Order: sequence, then structure tokens, then C-alpha cells
Amino acid sequence: DWTMAAFRDEAIARIREQVGSEKVICALSGGVDSAVAAVLIHEAIGDQLTCILVDHGLMRMNEARDVVDMFRGHYNIPLVDVDASETFISALEGVTDPERKRKIIGSLFIDVFEAEAEKIGGAAFLAQGTLYPDVIESVSFTGGPSVTIKSHHNVGGLPERMNLKLVEPLRELFKDEVRALGRELGLPEAFVGRHPFPGPGLAIRCPGGISREKLEILRKADAIYLDEIRKAGLYDAIWQAFAVLLPVQTVGVMGDGRTYDSVCALRAVTSVDGMTADFYHYDMDFLAATATRIINEVKGINRVVYDVTSKPPGTIEWE
Ligand code: XMP
Repeated sequence: DWTMAAFRDEAIARIREQVGSEKVICALSGGVDSAVAAVLIHEAIGDQLTCILVDHGLMRMNEARDVVDMFRGHYNIPLVDVDASETFISALEGVTDPERKRKIIGSLFIDVFEAEAEKIGGAAFLAQGTLYPDVIESVSFTGGPSVTIKSHHNVGGLPERMNLKLVEPLRELFKDEVRALGRELGLPEAFVGRHPFPGPGLAIRCPGGISREKLEILRKADAIYLDEIRKAGLYDAIWQAFAVLLPVQTVGVMGDGRTYDSVCALRAVTSVDGMTADFYHYDMDFLAATATRIINEVKGINRVVYDVTSKPPGTIEWE
């Protein structure tokens, strides 16, 4: 696509001009945006770039490992990966307020990232995969000019604290354009086509507070759900799909016994930019088969419900 090829060349020239011979650090989240930003910047300035992946223990099954493999194996981009799950999960224990969760995760993220960045030493720039909708949604949204609907997690605060300047090469792009750019840069299709995943990860998909055990249950249910979506050939027709583990227990009957376990809600939406969304209209047989699999295979869940709320009035995530 000539438009993206032109954008790529222009963006590379701009990055080189902005950065000169300085070092850049980039936080990889596991998502498409930060990965595309990193690969683009690496193409512009090579090993002046170091990526840092902070694993907060709130990712999906295998997600952190997949990104590390892609960067080390496929691209040979310098990457530091830190397992900080212990720190994050203990700090979140007992926290139920969605915004508190985001604040705790955001500020711990900065601490861990800052410590790693200092070990690398001497970076003058911080790279971020900020997109155009992030720029506008964090300023104002449907609630009015000064209302923050959700404080989106990024490394806000860090640039000032560490005296870093920002490199944000995707600031003018929408998600579909970032994907096109990713393809242009040769990222694997399976990665480029990935659904968006929020910075605070599974923490905002466990309303009522997280625990290691709940995260484990959620991760299993979510993996089964996505597996069924892929097998049904629906992955690319959906903007985002995920499971939510509700803090509600209900009575069930399995085999000869009574169960009293958690409810899992399934969410799937179509959207162009995440700012508005429609719930995905599955065939009921698909939902029934998926629910059966989750209940049979995941200990701790005995009921599955489907969310038919669009955005607005709902949001895509439950928190
Ligand atoms: P909502 O739930 O606000 O989600 O309709 C819109 C899009 O943003 C993602 N999202 C987040 N992304 N940090 C992020 O990086 C966050 O705190 C956050 N909250 C929501 C959500 O997954 C959807 O793609």
C-alpha cells in the first residue's frame, strides 16, 4: 500500500531527526501499538533503541512469552523482560475500585520501568505507541469536556520524572492504520491482527478485586473462549473479545453434586476505533458450545452469561 509505505519513510525520517544519536527506551505492552512503534523506531535508529517489557502478571495466557519470542527471535531488537507479577498482584490484593486499580498499576509500572531504564542508562527519549483516539479520548469524551471516563494506562508521569522526551510516531493514526503499518513493516499477520488489550490487563476484568487464583481461573476461561472464536473463524470479524470473572457465586449442579461457583461473562464487540461499539451477534449454538466447554474445563466457574450491551451506554471493558 503506497500510502503506508510513504508514511513509513516519512516517520523514519522524522524519528531520526528528532532523536539524533541519543538512546531511546520503549515500553512494550504485548499489544500491537507498542510493538509497531518499537519496530518502526528500530528501523529508524537500530540499537539506539532498547525495549522493556514489564510483565505485571495480568496478561493473557502466553501473551508475554509470545512478544518476547517475536522480538528476540524474529527481529533481534534489544529487549529486557522483567517478571514483576509478584509486586503487582500483592499491591492489588483487596482493591476493588477500578480507578484505584489503574492508579496502582500505572504507578508501579513506572517504578519498575524506571528502575530498568536506569540500569540501561543514558536514555534521552521514551517511545510510546499512542494513537489518535488515545489522544482525544484521554482529553475529553461523551461525559463532557473535563470528565475522565477511564484514566488510560500509559507511562504518563515518567517523562517528567526521568527528564525524558517523548517519541510518539503513531499519534496521527487510527488502529486500522497501525495494523497496515505493522504489515508494511513485516510483522506477522497473527500478531498484527491481534485484538486490543488494555494496559491494566486482566485486573480490570476481575471486578471486585483480584487474586492469583481468580486470575488463573479467568485466564483459562479467556483462553478457551478465544480458542473457540478462532476455530469458528470469527476472530477477525470481532474488534475485541474477552472473558470477565464476576465476583458472584451461583448454585449449579454438576454430576451428582451441587456446585457454588463463579459466573463468567463473555464480551465481544465490533468497532472501528474503540470509541463506540456494538455487541457481537453470535449464533446461539456458538455461545452454548463455548459455555459448555468453559464450565466443563474450568474449575471454579459454573455459569456463563453473554453481555449484550453496546457502547454507549456501556463501555467495552467492565471497569
Ligand atoms: P472502554 O472500556 O473505555 O475501552 O470502552 C475502550 C478501549 O480502551 C481499552 N482500555 C484501556 N486501554 N488502558 C488501556 O491501555 C486502560 O486503562 C484501558 N481501559 C480500557 C479497551 O480494552 C478498549 O479497547
